[in-house]
Amino acid sequence: MNNIVNLLKEIEDYAEENSIPIINKVSSQLLIDIAQERSPRSVLEIGTAVGYSALLMISHMPVDGKIVTIEQDANRIDTAYDFITRAGRIEQIQLLDGDASEILLQIEGPFDMVFIDAAKGQYLDYLQKVMDKLSDGAVIIADNVLFRGMVLSDEPPHKRYRTIVKRLREYLDFVSHDSRFSTTIHHEGDGVAISYYRGANK
Ligand SMILES: C[S@@+](CC[C@H](N)C(=O)[O-])C[C@H]1O[C@@H](n2cnc3c(N)ncnc32)[C@H](O)[C@@H]1O
Repeated sequence: MNNIVNLLKEIEDYAEENSIPIINKVSSQLLIDIAQERSPRSVLEIGTAVGYSALLMISHMPVDGKIVTIEQDANRIDTAYDFITRAGRIEQIQLLDGDASEILLQIEGPFDMVFIDAAKGQYLDYLQKVMDKLSDGAVIIADNVLFRGMVLSDEPPHKRYRTIVKRLREYLDFVSHDSRFSTTIHHEGDGVAISYYRGANK
């Protein structure tokens, strides 16, 4: 455990020095709690960056657990590969290089847990593309869903963020009202939506 703790700290420093966005402390703790509680054997992550959240999850999953993670930035995926190799987890974490919107159409499930942390305007599209690959009872964790408070604010968002805010609202509306999901929104940090998939026939 000490080795992984040290490596995660090194990745936090690397991310800070290189302006790479990684999961915050609030979302990290939620991921740890859910991984420990649900013991997922197969996890899909959308948005690897340099592998921080993937390594965090795998270190709290069952020993035979596996993660498939998608990243479109070639430099980041190379760095993630190095960190994951150093952690000795390359057999358990499969890195897929490319646009998640396309890759999601090609991969096979089932997944017990999905962590959505890539393009904020695409969350609903990602979810719709993974829906037929979810195990019954799967948990979907979507990070940054309140987007700096703008998603729940009555103030009109700045023009630059209008589409992201509109699409995040659509994502939250979908997971909150579709009978196949039961969703809780955590307001701490930048907002995290945790949705449990009840199955296709609910
Ligand atoms: C917030 S970062 C992920 C952080 C990572 N989950 C962590 O906590 O360590 C989001 C990542 O998603 C990637 N990304 C954005 N849009 C994407 C897409 N359409 N397909 C694949 N990756 C994408 C970005 O390049 C970026 O590295």
